[in-house]
Amino acid sequence: MKKLLIVFHSKTGGTYQMAQAAAKGACSEPEVAVNLIHAAETGPNELLQADAFIFATPENLAMMSGMMKDFFDRTYYAVLDLIIGRPYATLICAGSDGENAARQIQRIAAGWRLKAVAEPIIVCTHAQTPEAILAPKEIGEFDLQRCEEIGATLSAGLTLGIY
Ligand SMILES: Cc1cc2nc3c(=O)[nH]c(=O)nc-3n(C[C@H](O)[C@H](O)[C@H](O)COP(=O)(O)O)c2cc1C
Repeated sequence: MKKLLIVFHSKTGGTYQMAQAAAKGACSEPEVAVNLIHAAETGPNELLQADAFIFATPENLAMMSGMMKDFFDRTYYAVLDLIIGRPYATLICAGSDGENAARQIQRIAAGWRLKAVAEPIIVCTHAQTPEAILAPKEIGEFDLQRCEEIGATLSAGLTLGIY
């Protein structure tokens, strides 16, 4: 059985919905076990045990969220050189940008020498005012479908052994 790890953090629910959609897509392959887990609960063991990864984070202050950064800080050196070549994808939920959070994760993944299977998926919720930014988010069907597809792609690739 192949294993896909989906690590997420979410303050107002958007990233969580994206990660759930990716998990749903990934579950379309019965040969792949999907582990959808909060960044605070994820450590080196979860990374070592997985064959592929999806990293899902909000963009906060032009960076990945602090909780997601903490996950990478806690695990980076513990798994360095031990997960080389494994495939990954990135999901970013942002108000209006998201590019820098995506770039940060790309750099970390490059350090781990992971293999990107797709461009990062960035979903903008268009929250601009403090009220809108702090409100619960609802991700639309079109964007959920994109997340579902990336989960299904990773899962199919694992099943077929193409990574
Ligand atoms: C403290 C804070 C900082 C933020 N900074 C940015 C930012 O730099 N760029 C951006 O596009 N969105 C920014 N946002 C908006 C969030 O990315 C957006 O609300 C997104 O939906 C959050 O994802 P979540 O629902 O999973 O928490 C910020 C939100 C908060 C709370």
